[in-house]
Amino acid sequence: MVHALVVGGTGMLANTSLWLVSNGIHVSVIGRNKARMESLLNATDSSLMTPIFVDYSDIALLKKEIRSTIEQNGPIDLVIAWIHSYAERTLESIVSEISPCRNGTWKLFHVLGSSAKLSEIKENMHLPNTAQYYQVQLGFIIENGHSRWLTNEEISQGVIDSIQHHRLINIVGTLQPWEKRSS
Ligand SMILES: NC(=O)c1ccc[n+]([C@@H]2O[C@H](COP(=O)([O-])OP(=O)(O)OC[C@H]3O[C@@H](n4cnc5c(N)ncnc54)[C@H](OP(=O)(O)O)[C@@H]3O)[C@@H](O)[C@H]2O)c1
Repeated sequence: MVHALVVGGTGMLANTSLWLVSNGIHVSVIGRNKARMESLLNATDSSLMTPIFVDYSDIALLKKEIRSTIEQNGPIDLVIAWIHSYAERTLESIVSEISPCRNGTWKLFHVLGSSAKLSEIKENMHLPNTAQYYQVQLGFIIENGHSRWLTNEEISQGVIDSIQHHRLINIVGTLQPWEKRSS
């Protein structure tokens, strides 16, 4: 069975987590808040979802939890990661746990904010050759001359589009005109 890890999968990526399960994929979800996790588990076939309660900036515990879900549910085939920028070592730590367990390729969908510099981030990723790297950048929406941020549903759908269509770079909404972005 395909195994996905969704970091931040209880928040704006909740619909992405649910979509993965509805496609028969086993989903391990990282979050801290019990109520948010429970509401996600209640919305789906919970036998296909493994909740991982961990603060992802606690690297030792994060690595232990990832090893444990791999042991339980098999090697991880795809990672969807929305990680706040203060947690600088989180993504590389996840990669270092996942990669040695895989013989073939695996996919990383990196969800990034509007101000992220995509090529710089990609250059600094130092991924193993087995990793296929995709970037999903969150923009904003212009409607009737006004701008607004993306809804959680639009964000999740943007990530789903990236997964379905293997988009190396996917801008959800728009980044132009930059001066019109919501603040
Ligand atoms: N350009 C854009 O349109 C754009 C860009 C970025 C954000 N936004 C908006 O900003 C809103 C707020 O952003 P947000 O980051 O709070 O989104 P969120 O997806 O609602 O929440 C963050 C997710 O990451 C988890 N998380 C956060 N810190 C964690 C930690 N240290 N350890 C483990 N899990 C952690 C949270 O779980 P727990 O709650 O359990 O910790 C939750 O699942 C979003 O709803 C979105 O609409 C818009």
